[in-house]
Amino acid sequence: MIGYSSPAMSEGAVSDETSLWRSLLALRRQDGARPRPALPPGAPVAEAALLELYLPFAERRRRPYAVAHLGQSLDGRIATAAGASRWVTGEEDLLHTHRMRALADAILVGAGTVRHDDPQLTVRRCSGDHPARVVIDCERRLGAEYRVFQDGAAPTLVLAAADRARPGERLGEAEIVPLPRGADGLAPHDIRQALAARGLDFLFIEGGGITVSRFLVAGALDRLQLTVAPIILGSGRPSLSLPEIVEPHQGMRPRLRRFPLGEDVLYECIFHD
Ligand SMILES: NC(=O)c1ccc[n+]([C@@H]2O[C@H](COP(=O)([O-])OP(=O)(O)OC[C@H]3O[C@@H](n4cnc5c(N)ncnc54)[C@H](OP(=O)(O)O)[C@@H]3O)[C@@H](O)[C@H]2O)c1
Repeated sequence: MIGYSSPAMSEGAVSDETSLWRSLLALRRQDGARPRPALPPGAPVAEAALLELYLPFAERRRRPYAVAHLGQSLDGRIATAAGASRWVTGEEDLLHTHRMRALADAILVGAGTVRHDDPQLTVRRCSGDHPARVVIDCERRLGAEYRVFQDGAAPTLVLAAADRARPGERLGEAEIVPLPRGADGLAPHDIRQALAARGLDFLFIEGGGITVSRFLVAGALDRLQLTVAPIILGSGRPSLSLPEIVEPHQGMRPRLRRFPLGEDVLYECIFHD
């Protein structure tokens, strides 16, 4: 049991992990007007970790922010070669992704993830509102039958090359958003700009590997979360695929935060605060 400052609670009130989460959500949704939750010395490790992990995302920034996440095996695979990814990482990482969704203004995935997983992209494992859902389908290969385009659970956008879309066009319940076609599909910075123009400032990019890699290569990620599960798949779809380097020292060596999530470990690379 812990105590922390929140206007929703009376002076000296004590709380648990669930209330702490609600307080983080309130901080996020109220434009930073609430005081940040604080833990007393000796608070349980679980609550301290919760606060440390999510406070940077609950506190609003004055600029758009993009965080990507992938759950991968020890050998850097996010799915089998057939595209099965349920589940590479464990329950705690699944809860983590739902918490990140609840803090985000929008979740973004690539067309491959919709094709293979038919995900709902809603908040179900924790309390919180569903963010907007964004699918990159530059060439308009996806049909309207997928759940994100049918269930109406949250505003849903499909980002497509302008030459493949008409303004105002819909795919099921989703709105098609035309963007300029670049040399390599849609430019991640254009995507971020288009979403920010709609008030979708905090973007959580949930995969897959191709989509996250393109954002990383473009320098369009503020943080990258890689949850590593103690499993070796030996083959399958890769996590990150970046342009080749010659020497190990040419690799990226970002500032890191590290959190145990059950048997998995979450590594968070910080590119920009
Ligand atoms: N373990 C995890 O954390 C995790 C998370 C998500 C997904 N998955 C798994 O990963 C697999 C899917 O991942 P993936 O890497 O193969 O595909 P993906 O990243 O989901 O989708 C890639 C596709 O999206 C489109 N796309 C993405 N960014 C684009 C851009 N900037 N411009 C234009 N088009 C863009 C392209 O579609 P077109 O080629 O059609 O143009 C591209 O081929 C599935 O098996 C899924 O189950 C695992």
